[in-house]
Amino acid sequence: MKLILYLSILAGTTFFAHSSVQKEDHAPYLVYLKSHFNPCVGVLIKTKWVLAPAHCYLPNLKVMLGNLKSRIRDGTEQTINPIQIVRYWNYSHSSPQDDIMLIKLDKPAVLNHKVQPLPLATRNVQPGTVCLLSGLDWSQENSGRHPDLRQNLEAPVMSDAECQKTEQGRSHRNSLCVKFVKVFSRIFGEVAVATVICKNKLQGIEVGHFMGGDVGIYTNVYKYLSWIENTAKDS
Ligand SMILES: *[C@@H]1O[C@H](CO)[C@@H](O)[C@H](O)[C@H]1NC(C)=O
Repeated sequence: MKLILYLSILAGTTFFAHSSVQKEDHAPYLVYLKSHFNPCVGVLIKTKWVLAPAHCYLPNLKVMLGNLKSRIRDGTEQTINPIQIVRYWNYSHSSPQDDIMLIKLDKPAVLNHKVQPLPLATRNVQPGTVCLLSGLDWSQENSGRHPDLRQNLEAPVMSDAECQKTEQGRSHRNSLCVKFVKVFSRIFGEVAVATVICKNKLQGIEVGHFMGGDVGIYTNVYKYLSWIENTAKDS
């Protein structure tokens, strides 16, 4: 677990390290899952539901939406407790498969320009499609434990065949692989890795052990669409 965590931080770092310009990108669907453990990112899919990796099922989880900067308040920030957390029925800690869960919020999120739900993918994405990777990062003035900056990056989706040939891709079912165009050189700092958004729809979410290099492995959200829709039936 430690190793996995380390690798994901390492990979995530190399991932966004290039963004020396620290402007906040627009990614109003990203929520921060605050806990006493490692940082996790989820996606608001309905006003009362967040989709997240199942390995983010952590004690004392709080869902933070809107502005994440603690020094500057702008009225968009909200902290909501989960009322129910449903992990995918076949998820197990010992395997990176089916790493997906749904969090029901205690009360609906109040939507504003920094808090907006993202629709789910309704089909598989074509290999080669350039998608948006969104994640949370730490701004330069933030030396705390919690990220405060939304960041976006573009990357093309790989074909399944191409992905299966990589060391990371081989062991996964229901995965979505993206190819990082740049391989970043800096290896420290921190980041919480991200989600894949293709044509403005949620196509992938982070897998627990993101191995780095120039390939990113995500859970293919489309494969879980009927489970998500059945579980998160109410608004
Ligand atoms: C459930 O997960 C296990 C371990 O990843 C896998 O071997 C099995 O095929 C999965 N079952 C289904 C029905 O997806």
